[in-house]
Amino acid sequence: MTNEIKERVFSGVQPSGSLHIGNYLGAIKNFVEVQNKFDSIFCIVDLHAITVWQDPEILGENIIEVAAAYIASGIDPDKATIFVQSQIPAHAELAWILNCVSRIGWLNRMTQFKEKAGKNREKVSVGLYVYPNLMASDILLYHANLVPVGDDQKQHLEITRDIAQKFNNDFGRVNENEFFPLPEPMILPVASRVMSLRDGEKKMSKSDSSEMTRIEFSDENDLIVKKIAKAKTDPLPMPSAIKELNERPEINNLINIYSAFSGEKIEEVINKFEGKKLSEFKSDLCDVVINEMEPIRFRFKELKNDKTYLKKILHDGMLKAKEKSDPIINEVKSIVGLG
Ligand code: AMP
Ligand code: TRP
Repeated sequence: MTNEIKERVFSGVQPSGSLHIGNYLGAIKNFVEVQNKFDSIFCIVDLHAITVWQDPEILGENIIEVAAAYIASGIDPDKATIFVQSQIPAHAELAWILNCVSRIGWLNRMTQFKEKAGKNREKVSVGLYVYPNLMASDILLYHANLVPVGDDQKQHLEITRDIAQKFNNDFGRVNENEFFPLPEPMILPVASRVMSLRDGEKKMSKSDSSEMTRIEFSDENDLIVKKIAKAKTDPLPMPSAIKELNERPEINNLINIYSAFSGEKIEEVINKFEGKKLSEFKSDLCDVVINEMEPIRFRFKELKNDKTYLKKILHDGMLKAKEKSDPIINEVKSIVGLG
């Protein structure tokens, strides 16, 4: 295996609604850092998005938005490959092959499926159920070894490794001849899990019906201030020790967000605000969020209006992604004995 292949990064974001600071801190901000060190591929995973209903009139807009968010956050299309999943048919082809490798018992353990399907289990799409196999396909199609994602995706990385290992075993490709490398998650501890501003036990999510739960890329400064002012907390004073945070999910989340944006350690943030008023903390929190998100928002809005530019980036990215994935899908088919 060559060095270049060893150090390949792959990650993806679904074009399923408004991007927020959870996506930014848990994923996209980390992409910006890794693009300088690794051969990096950042995908807009539209085939994943349609596992739940997406309005066809809006899906195209959402794809453009993710591309704009990637670039506005600092991903450089000359360094990294940015492309749309459905433009490379090999993602779906490999996903089918992996459907035949992956086991129902493994899928039945997936907590994201259980959460998303809820009580409606019999009525959700089959796509939602086999979603982890498609995600495994995305990663394995590029022989990626490192996958920067938020904490919620850890289990999907584990099943990806299981699928890769079973494929290698089933087709006699173990040890030094291992065909699929086993990918590792890259999870930054500080903001790998940003919670809802209204409920510290729930993940900040694009699909939450209330916009007050999340700070979006397109939020103007005064809206950010309003959302932080209304963010749920508890009646206790600002914490004086890290261990208090375990019992106080809402303030824990706000301190995490502060720490992630300011670069200060959790302990430092606690020391800084101990004995101070909550309103003072919230006001400083607004400053650190706005300080980073404002320039990103300007660029994001500018880019969204330049669709010709974004479509060219995505087209060039598709060509680069195809060049990387063509030899791998061809080899998979030959290993399996297809065609
Ligand atoms: P998605 O919005 O599901 O397409 O997620 C895109 C990326 O953002 C994935 O790496 C997720 O793990 C990450 N992500 C989504 N929501 C959050 C959150 N609330 N906190 C941290 N990371 C998140
Ligand atoms: N499942 C990921 C999410 O919801 C998105 C995703 C799809 C992904 N394919 C991927 C992430 C491959 C990393 C690598 O956040």
